[in-house]
Amino acid sequence: MDKQFKRTLVTCALPYANGPVHIGHLAGVYVPADIYVRYLRMRGEDVLYVCGSDEHGVPITIKARQQGCTPQDIVDKYHQIIKDSFSGLGINFDIYSRTTSDVHTDIASGFFRKLYDEGKFITRESEQYYDPEAQTFLADRYIVGTCPRCGNEGAYGDQCEKCGSTLSPEELINPKSKLSGAVPVKKKTSHWYLPLDRYEDWLKEWILDGHKEWRTNVYGQCKSWIDGGLQPRAVSRDLDWGVPVPVEGAEGKVLYVWFDAPIGYISNSKELLPQSWEKWWKSADTRLVHFIGKDNIVFHCIVFPSMLKAHGDYILPDNVPANEFLNLEGDKISTSRGWAVWAHEYLADFPGKEDVLRYVLTANAPETKDNDFSWKDFQTRNNSELVAIFGNFVNRAVVLTHKYFGGKVPARGELLDIDREALAEIPQLRASMERNLEGYHFREALKDAMGIARVGNKYISDTEPWKLAKTDMDRVATILNVSLQICADLAVAFEPFTPFAAERLRTMLGVGLDAGTDHRAGEAVTVNTYRPGEGAALHTGVTPRTAVVLRWDSIGGEDLLPAGHAVGAAELLFAKIEDDAVNAQIARLEKIRAEREAAAAAEAARQVAPPKDECTFEDFDKMDIRTATVMEAERVPKTDKLLKLTIDTGLDRRVIVSGIAEFYSPEQMLGKQICILANLKPRVIRGIESRGMILMAKQGDGQMRFITPQEVLTNGSQIG
Ligand code: 2FM
Ligand code: ZN
Repeated sequence: MDKQFKRTLVTCALPYANGPVHIGHLAGVYVPADIYVRYLRMRGEDVLYVCGSDEHGVPITIKARQQGCTPQDIVDKYHQIIKDSFSGLGINFDIYSRTTSDVHTDIASGFFRKLYDEGKFITRESEQYYDPEAQTFLADRYIVGTCPRCGNEGAYGDQCEKCGSTLSPEELINPKSKLSGAVPVKKKTSHWYLPLDRYEDWLKEWILDGHKEWRTNVYGQCKSWIDGGLQPRAVSRDLDWGVPVPVEGAEGKVLYVWFDAPIGYISNSKELLPQSWEKWWKSADTRLVHFIGKDNIVFHCIVFPSMLKAHGDYILPDNVPANEFLNLEGDKISTSRGWAVWAHEYLADFPGKEDVLRYVLTANAPETKDNDFSWKDFQTRNNSELVAIFGNFVNRAVVLTHKYFGGKVPARGELLDIDREALAEIPQLRASMERNLEGYHFREALKDAMGIARVGNKYISDTEPWKLAKTDMDRVATILNVSLQICADLAVAFEPFTPFAAERLRTMLGVGLDAGTDHRAGEAVTVNTYRPGEGAALHTGVTPRTAVVLRWDSIGGEDLLPAGHAVGAAELLFAKIEDDAVNAQIARLEKIRAEREAAAAAEAARQVAPPKDECTFEDFDKMDIRTATVMEAERVPKTDKLLKLTIDTGLDRRVIVSGIAEFYSPEQMLGKQICILANLKPRVIRGIESRGMILMAKQGDGQMRFITPQEVLTNGSQIG
């Protein structure tokens, strides 16, 4: 690793505490960050790993209002759900706190106050919508009206969720306050702004010249923001939920959520390490890395760094490895539509399979482009990769060791080429894994780790020790010795990716792991060693019960497991996932999709065609519209849409060819009284002369029905 840094501070985007986290969040931010942190710690790096809930902002107040409770109730509920989901998946931050904490209020207010006192803000007066009945300013989300683009009557002041347009409240037709239903009025208000335009030159130099190594998607977004010209950004809001603006006369104003949230990284560090947090945030030899999703790039690469720069005491991020988005079964994840796989539900539905989700989300990580999660792929990756390659190899090696050598690692004899070749691949894969992990290429790093399992699985399949047991036990000993060394490599290499399985494997092999240092218990604890069979990381610095303690550098080394070392009983590392389990998940999603499609169809059916140009009575009177009865009906051969109808018009019997076969069968039409335009100029359709037209009503969704008098009338009765 880069020697310029003595420690690494890893932050993960603070999730909004107004809903649970889903697989998109996990794949985008939390699983990659966790892999990175586990890896660095195994390399002996000092890492502080910080996250927490983002508990301010307008959507939380809206949800509280909808549910008839307080914003505090909402954030209390989701903070706990999110926190439990992370720890359930083995994502163990040193601290997972909240932006409603006292420490955060202090730090965020102090941050604002320093910038205020030093004149780093500008103030601007603007006209904002105000609810005269509720006597409060209205956030854009609190104003609803008709979308000027698509006519949706429930569009919000910032966005129309139907057509996806970004709006401003001024554009809404008939705007109304969501609070009281009153028509909002414009009222003057004043806010503080961070003049980003003043940081433009510095940002150009710092990012565009200084961080060309950032991911293309991140660098590209920054470039287009900077090239587009930066504008001052408001850092306060008229709202009653948030950190109060610490300035006299600012009653009723709070810090804008995107001002206070990133400061949460600092406050949470201080809450955990009250004595030493500054070392992490104020030393040039700390590497700061923000893990985020692509929707947060501007805030973490432009706005927050400008805030930090303005403040002056803090370091800037060294990298911001933002991911793109993960879709679900081909559609964008949508929390409002329930189109998501929630972490807490996954943990309940798939107990003991935390690693499978971590594995699949990493193998499919949206690192360079949006990617898709599908339940079938989840099943295949588990069954054909984790079970069939990794698990199968380990199982064969451990079972055969018990069968032939009483569970003790056999001493190896002379190595053959096939043994040497297999062993030689491991250090290469380790080197590649290191390059990939340090370059934030987690998908590729996982492929390398899986490469080790593939080497082992191929080696044991090619050497077939079970066939040699009767003739050459020395050779069997060597093969199993080599296989067990590869198992030990896997028990280390998979620790960042599938920590639960890696630990089960170490228990099976009877080895410990030096997993590095964490700060979960605060300042005092620096040693953190895993002991086989005792669950998660310990904070007490005890010596492992086994003589064999592996470390990252062990991967690809010689004799990780000495001859004579006792191996525990074989246990399946991964279990097959049956069709029923994934089909149940697919069925849940299909139900949501079907409901959504039905709602869209119903909505389309309600759409009415726009009015036609005015016509005169004379125009109308030209049309000879009459009642008639269908006497014969048949399909026009070789067409899907046409029916040939013979009708009695009261004047004559005639043939009309009508494009209604999608909606009516010939049998349904027979004997029906209908209305026709009788004097339409005859036309030849498919070789048949059609004289007239059947009157049909057409709905917005394309459905058509013929028009029939309420009671049967004499054929030929004129309509007008
Ligand atoms: O997009 C989000 O979910 C935000 N709550 C992320 C905030 S990250 C940081 F700034 F706190
Ligand atoms: Zn719209």
